Amino acid sequence: MNILITGGTSGIGRQLAMDYAEAGHNVIVCGRTEAALHELQERYPKQIAGQQLDVTDAEATLQALRSYIDIDLVILSAGVAEYVDIENFNTALFERVYEVNVFGTVRCIEAVLPNLKRGSKLVIVGSTARLLPFTRAEAYASSKAALHYIARSLQVDLADRGIKVLTVSPGFVKTPMTDKNDFEMPMRVSVEFASKSIRRGIEKNKTDISFPRIFSFFLKFMALLPQRCQVAISKRLA
Ligand SMILES: NC(=O)c1ccc[n+]([C@@H]2O[C@H](COP(=O)([O-])OP(=O)(O)OC[C@H]3O[C@@H](n4cnc5c(N)ncnc54)[C@H](OP(=O)(O)O)[C@@H]3O)[C@@H](O)[C@H]2O)c1
Repeated sequence: MNILITGGTSGIGRQLAMDYAEAGHNVIVCGRTEAALHELQERYPKQIAGQQLDVTDAEATLQALRSYIDIDLVILSAGVAEYVDIENFNTALFERVYEVNVFGTVRCIEAVLPNLKRGSKLVIVGSTARLLPFTRAEAYASSKAALHYIARSLQVDLADRGIKVLTVSPGFVKTPMTDKNDFEMPMRVSVEFASKSIRRGIEKNKTDISFPRIFSFFLKFMALLPQRCQVAISKRLA
């Protein structure tokens, strides 16, 4: 397979890139950090090609990703997390998060869509954080909720073109993103576990690849409760 991964320079995306390369697939790894791209290219010179890319740069994203015409699997994993300080609620934080997580992902979709053929897959990495009103997650989790809605609509609109759209909803995964967190992260899994779950889900065409199973089951169940109950639970967890 020819695979394109954004956010491939770190964390979940990097592990996916290495695992797919190990399995003999050709992987285009996208990200801003040149050193990380070089390191991956050196490790897998036959399998991995680096593409320097900042998804907040609309023109560059369109130009770079439009040039890949024979891709079987696109995994959009580039993302950032920032948490709101309620005493200093500011729009700039939302703009930074949405610029990468929502508009950055949408730009990548715009760029790759014309070249995606029947039978190809588009995988959008969201988060289980979208399921409940978590403390300080107004920007991050809402960006992932927006992404999830976009993906679900694309599942409808791309069905006739034979393009499968899958969503990924991870719980906590140990990566540089979560290493910065100062709160408890129950059932945090390794990047190896995350990559295995995602690759297995993609192979099985799972509409929403959620993991770890018990954690996501628990959150999906709580998301069915009345809103006041969800708020009460989140207040207790805060
Ligand atoms: N870790 C978790 O617990 C967890 C849970 C749920 C969902 N997720 C989601 O999983 C995805 C990967 O997260 P991670 O934990 O692997 O985080 P990470 O280790 O911080 O990796 C984030 C990736 O996004 C890329 N990125 C950030 N800003 C970018 C930009 N402007 N342009 C292009 N690439 C950019 C980074 O590459 P450069 O810095 O090289 O550009 C990096 O490769 C994210 O979408 C995250 O929201 C993670």
